[in-house]
Amino acid sequence: MKNIDWANLPFGYYKTNYNVRCYYRDGKWGEIEVSSSEHINIHMAATALHYGQEAFEGLKVFRGKDNKIRIFRWEENAKRMQNSARGIMMQPPPSELFFEMLKKVVLLNEEFVPPAGLGAALYVRPLLIGSGPQVGVKPAEEYLFLMFAGPVGPYFKEGFNPVDIQIIRDYDRAAPRGTGHIKVGGNYAASLVSSERAHKEGFATVLYLDACEKKYIDEAGPANFFAIKDNTYITPKSNSILPSITNLSLRELAADMGLKVEQRKVAVSELGDFEEVGACGTAAVISPIKRIVERETGQEFTYCPDGKPGPVSTKLYQRLKGIQEGETEDKFNWNTIL
Ligand code: PLP
Ligand code: COI
Repeated sequence: MKNIDWANLPFGYYKTNYNVRCYYRDGKWGEIEVSSSEHINIHMAATALHYGQEAFEGLKVFRGKDNKIRIFRWEENAKRMQNSARGIMMQPPPSELFFEMLKKVVLLNEEFVPPAGLGAALYVRPLLIGSGPQVGVKPAEEYLFLMFAGPVGPYFKEGFNPVDIQIIRDYDRAAPRGTGHIKVGGNYAASLVSSERAHKEGFATVLYLDACEKKYIDEAGPANFFAIKDNTYITPKSNSILPSITNLSLRELAADMGLKVEQRKVAVSELGDFEEVGACGTAAVISPIKRIVERETGQEFTYCPDGKPGPVSTKLYQRLKGIQEGETEDKFNWNTIL
């Protein structure tokens, strides 16, 4: 294993040994190529650059105390990437190709898979782009699918400590019938102005509302939203949010722990009733929220009265991490052991 200060890694780019690439050309996927270059050579008229034909994924790989390497729910990431591809007219990479590339990129960078118990993971970033040229607005005929990987720590610097987030009404992240439900770069571009402003104003992220009525909670910039009330796990249902694999897993864990699970519209006006609230995602894992501020009115909702994550969020966090790191029985068969 590499000599890295694993426990203090930020969430960011980390140069590793290799990445893997595969081109779709002349109507078929080619051979998987291994590269040690951090750069790609791209046509200046590639559709990714002009018309946003770009989708990505993010998934984590863990080393257990038993030294086994576990990949968390990659099939779900493969399916979502195919969905994202179809949503912006790109060639979807088959799940078999996704897994072959994933296995390769993890094994080639095995020395960067962090040791157990330090809160770090190997983060794999699959990327699909239209690499073929077009000048008219049309899908490309050539696609590049690549995966790189690097060790990461927590997405929010607070880790599992509660964060402050901001509700805004002057920007939308995604339109109701737009691309919010798929993982394409344009959604993140649309969130940059408001999320950088939130950071400057002291918040970890923005909580976006539904673009139509501004009445319901959609999701946070890089993560879904959930709340706990009366032994119920509540999370928004909306066409413009990303179907989070972490949220899916938390719903299954919550049900398994005897909680009721509700996936429904969640009104901003309910925020005062919740016992615990949090953001969840691969990068964020669970980030408990201690304060939500409405930017326009200054209205505040506060949680975590003792400054600590709530009991239900803590239990969910421990069960999820336990399964990912091989400490708890993987009763849902979520891990693929390499
Ligand atoms: N929502 C957005 C906008 C995201 O970028 C992510 C991260 O992937 C999530 C939610 C969480 O999804 P997942 O749990 O699949 O990582
Ligand atoms: C993830 O959680 O994997 C994400 O992609 C979130 C963010 C880094 C975009």
